[in-house]
Amino acid sequence: SKGGFKHFMLKEIFEQPKVISDCLVGRIDKGKSEVKLPELNEFPTPERLHIVACGTSYNAGLWGQHLFESWAKIPVTVEIASEFRYRDVILNKNDLVLVISQSGETADTLACLRLVKSKGIPVVALTNVVGSSIAREANASIYTQAGPEISVASTKAMTSQMILLSLMALYFAKRQNNLDKDILKNALEGLSSLEPELNKVLPKLREKAQELALLYSGARSFFFLGRGVCYPLAEEGALKLKELSYIHAEGYAAGEMKHGPIALIDQDFPTFALAFNDSLFPKVKSNIEEVQARQGKVIALTHEKTSLTTVDNLWIIPEVWGVLNSFIALPALQLFSYEVADYLGKDVDQPRNLAKSVTVE
Ligand code: F6R
Repeated sequence: SKGGFKHFMLKEIFEQPKVISDCLVGRIDKGKSEVKLPELNEFPTPERLHIVACGTSYNAGLWGQHLFESWAKIPVTVEIASEFRYRDVILNKNDLVLVISQSGETADTLACLRLVKSKGIPVVALTNVVGSSIAREANASIYTQAGPEISVASTKAMTSQMILLSLMALYFAKRQNNLDKDILKNALEGLSSLEPELNKVLPKLREKAQELALLYSGARSFFFLGRGVCYPLAEEGALKLKELSYIHAEGYAAGEMKHGPIALIDQDFPTFALAFNDSLFPKVKSNIEEVQARQGKVIALTHEKTSLTTVDNLWIIPEVWGVLNSFIALPALQLFSYEVADYLGKDVDQPRNLAKSVTVE
């Protein structure tokens, strides 16, 4: 049942605080400042990690890349499954492949798993469905505790994947003993505080999303821009908007705009910018100014401390620690697309042409 919500998607967005805490249960040993992922104990720390997935799960992988690199110092490639399986990908014996799939049944991701296994390289699965094909065939499975996701558009599954990716990065970092103690402490404390923080903020995010939906539902195209961990979030924001509302949307690394896409900007082509209070903020700010100089309207999802004031619509979200700000920004993006699609009267839980589980190529 929809539990009093208008759509499953909305219900699942509001389940995210609980999903976060369910994903953390039994995973953090606060006393020892340690992450428990016994599923990974048998695997040596990989020389290279290849993350393979589709759609929203791919975007989660792109996000996780930042954490594996900066915390665990493991080189990472992130691959679209339908491309990976048809390339002559070079895998070495000390590499590890991580496939991410909510359903555990996505045909291209499953094919990659089989291909990699046939080459004698170990595959770990990050999946939400116990007993799924991907879970059964992987060398080890780590389960996201998102519960059943009914809405075709993935929301809480991505959050659960990002939590487990954070834990995996911390796990490998700690095992190699090369993570700054403060980062480990802040990350573990920050993860544990996310549930109450998000519970508090979700109703406000929804109000703001409703307000913006009224203003922007008439747009025919949208850019979503971000840098660093905000780039995969921008991709996800664009994916959500197009699949739910059928408005053309493109996620872009903000710095790529000047290499072509900025030619599209005019007063009818708005931009949704993600501008966290981090070291990349000055860069994102100048990208926003470039859009404004071409009369493009801008929504900026940002933090109070950035003192960004000159955009058309400011969306200030409470600031938490570092990359964990993504867990507040992602529901904001989901709610924005949800409200636009609902305002336009689209079939939110069952968008046209889409299936929940893509079991054909
Ligand atoms: C988008 C969405 C899809 C899936 C993709 C992969 O909202 O749901 O892009 O993320 O089809 O599905 P899984 O994770 O089940 O392999």
